[in-house]
Amino acid sequence: MSGIGNQFWEKTKYKHLGQSDQQKGVTQPKLQLDADSQAKLIDLPSIGQFQPQQDSLRTVIENRRSVRKFSKDPLSLPELSWLLWATQGVTMSVPHATGGYVTRRTVPSAGGRHAFETYLVINNVAGLAPGLYRFLAVEHKLVEVVPESAFAPKFVAACLSQNWMLNSAVIFAWVAVAERMTWRYNERGYRYMLLDAGHVGQNLYLAAESINGGACGIAAYDDDLVNDLLGLDGESRFVIYIGTCGRRPG
Ligand SMILES: Cc1cc2nc3c(=O)[nH]c(=O)nc-3n(C[C@H](O)[C@H](O)[C@H](O)COP(=O)(O)O)c2cc1C
Repeated sequence: MSGIGNQFWEKTKYKHLGQSDQQKGVTQPKLQLDADSQAKLIDLPSIGQFQPQQDSLRTVIENRRSVRKFSKDPLSLPELSWLLWATQGVTMSVPHATGGYVTRRTVPSAGGRHAFETYLVINNVAGLAPGLYRFLAVEHKLVEVVPESAFAPKFVAACLSQNWMLNSAVIFAWVAVAERMTWRYNERGYRYMLLDAGHVGQNLYLAAESINGGACGIAAYDDDLVNDLLGLDGESRFVIYIGTCGRRPG
């Protein structure tokens, strides 16, 4: 077998997979990482009454582009709430046979596993101090993680110094919590997390377009540096995809 990519593809075929934790009767992992009990929680506006400027699906699909130039106008909190709902919003919770719940969300996920946490580097959102936050999808709230404006430049440096990212309003960093997926699918779950990330990224692109904003997917980043900055071990939890978003110029 040639390179590591081919080996990964081969070894994640069904014939190589052993018994999963689910098959062994292990309880499913929690739906969401706990928030630090001392951390500040921030309510997000409900998207119930939110009306995007453009709600023609055809138009948003047709106009979608990767945007790397942004206006200095901040995004509003309702707009951020809309982007978070579009990328990870919980639309239904259903009881699971092994106890607890599974969620249905605005994005599909293999086996409904929803293995991602959303970290946000806030640069320019009205009413939110710059810094690092995490989205609590179940409660539709934010939890403050590192409320420092110095965080964004460090994060962007870890994205191979793509300095234009500093002019975006918000940087999304989707973090895989591997056991939420491998509990059911073992090593094959890594394929599924990559596929899931694509769905999330596309919804960010389309939701950004619907508010006359723009997004750009980011895969050029130093894994070890971004994981260190977010306090992740890089194995059981790691950044799987990044996306920027801001208001389009002019
Ligand atoms: C998985 C993925 C990773 C990407 N990584 C980067 C990146 O690190 N930096 C960047 O400027 N653009 C990045 N892009 C944007 C692509 O360069 C862009 O989609 C491509 O040039 C086509 O342009 P369009 O999206 O406007 O159609 C990425 C896109 C995808 C889907």
